[in-house]
Amino acid sequence: MRIAILISGRGSNMLRLADFIAAQALPVEIALVASNKPCDGIDKADQRGLSTAVFERKAYGDKASQEQALGDAIAAANVDYILLAGYMAILGADFVDRFANKTINIHPSLLPDFKGLDTHERALSAGVTHHGVSIHLVTAALDDGPILTQAALPIARDDTSDSLAGRVLTLEHALYPFVLAALSHGDLAIDGDTVHWRDGPEFLAQMPDGMAQKLLSTIIWPT
Ligand code: GRF
Repeated sequence: MRIAILISGRGSNMLRLADFIAAQALPVEIALVASNKPCDGIDKADQRGLSTAVFERKAYGDKASQEQALGDAIAAANVDYILLAGYMAILGADFVDRFANKTINIHPSLLPDFKGLDTHERALSAGVTHHGVSIHLVTAALDDGPILTQAALPIARDDTSDSLAGRVLTLEHALYPFVLAALSHGDLAIDGDTVHWRDGPEFLAQMPDGMAQKLLSTIIWPT
């Protein structure tokens, strides 16, 4: 399986995916790490010898041309899936249609709650008891496509947005590799815009790396 990962910043999810692929010898090749600006994540991907590219809007004049160039690079890399991992721009309908049902996003909230930015602050202000992570297919509407899976954690009374962000990020670092492993082993299939899990909890119990223990109590399967 070949994937592209799109980032815009520190790239911790991208690095976690790269580490997990190597540690577990997943049958997955990261064919391209692309960004819409120079960033730490691109530097770190370069240092690991991954193929990288930066597509800055100002170099292309407008969003449509920038996304066309990004899409052309992804098409040339011949990938099965595109994983958004902190790509901080809303992809236009042309890009989304071109890679329909192949583009996956990780979002730091329990969708449909708290789409968009500042999810940790908004969860705290709303007084919800649980927060978490969602992994979903990308559609033209922001943070809105079919859910692949979610994982939840309880909000503590003394949580700040920073403490919450840290715990959610730890969960992201478990959940995204889990989804990638499931896809690459055929335990998760995406058929059009429909998501199929083969043996949800049984597969999870076989996950290495202490991941099963971490995830079992938190994961929410799509209904
Ligand atoms: C993550 O919280 C991700 O869910 C969100 O942006 C952040 C990216 O972090 N979309 P990193 O660049 O992977 O460290």
